Amino acid sequence: MTHAVQSSTEFVVTKEHRRFTELCDAVRRERYIGVCYGPPGVGKTLSARQYADWDVVHPQLSEYRIYDNVDDRAVEARTVLYTPKVHNTPRIVDKELCLLHNRLSWGIERALYPDRPVADIVKPPGTFVELLIIDEADRLKTASLEQLRDHHDRTGVGLILIGMPGIERRLARYPQLYSRIGFAHEYRPLSSDELAFVLRHHWTTIGLTLSAEDFTDAEAMAAVARITGGNFRLVQRLFAQVTRILEINNLTTITREVVETAREALIIGTA
Ligand SMILES: Nc1ncnc2c1ncn2[C@@H]1O[C@H](COP(=O)(O)OP(=O)(O)O)[C@@H](O)[C@H]1O
Ligand SMILES: [Mg+2]
Repeated sequence: MTHAVQSSTEFVVTKEHRRFTELCDAVRRERYIGVCYGPPGVGKTLSARQYADWDVVHPQLSEYRIYDNVDDRAVEARTVLYTPKVHNTPRIVDKELCLLHNRLSWGIERALYPDRPVADIVKPPGTFVELLIIDEADRLKTASLEQLRDHHDRTGVGLILIGMPGIERRLARYPQLYSRIGFAHEYRPLSSDELAFVLRHHWTTIGLTLSAEDFTDAEAMAAVARITGGNFRLVQRLFAQVTRILEINNLTTITREVVETAREALIIGTA
């Protein structure tokens, strides 16, 4: 039996992702500012990419020219996902963000009104984009946050800032921005039910079936839960090791021992 390691794992629609989607829909509808915070590895970035359909939309914007349009999925999402670089300045943030925002908006307008002459493309830039999601917002200093707030005010676009826990308290120090925050959302690790669901999926991808009634399986699942605390990234990394250990030892059952051996192969911060 071969255990193929999946390089690109399928997106799992978790409860947290559904809640994130609701946050996006609400911010988009009300044109508010929203904040989403959670520890690293719980799935914030992937949720945002999924909502913005960014794997499909971003490539369309990279080579965009004013005569182009974008496809239905971009028209549907109407969302820009922007990740500031580690070293950023307000000017660069503004420039990079405006570029994506304007290109997507023009692209949508071209798709909706293909007969409208290019010269008549609406003047207020960004009109057809409804939501901007800023990932890694912890990287932004006061001046850049102020820049974003101004961008939000001028364009009327909904804005979501994604960051680590604590970002919501940091933002509270900027009344200009904070007074515009309509929603805050805590992105939590997987609940035990959902972890079981994800694990069943993992077990299946390597050709095994997981049964909660089976003592060995239940014990292995409990070990995964204990080690990962429901952190998606840790689950993925642990499982890559589990797969490797099964393979090199020619095993076909995931036991608690296998999980614990896999854990030793990982460096996990205990903080
Ligand atoms: N909904 C999901 N479905 C499948 N895998 C996920 C999902 N969410 C997170 N992951 C896995 O966890 C990893 C970390 O997710 P990520 O979104 O980067 O976390 P965060 O942005 O919160 O630090 C991803 O690379 C992926 O392997
Ligand atoms: Mg992230």
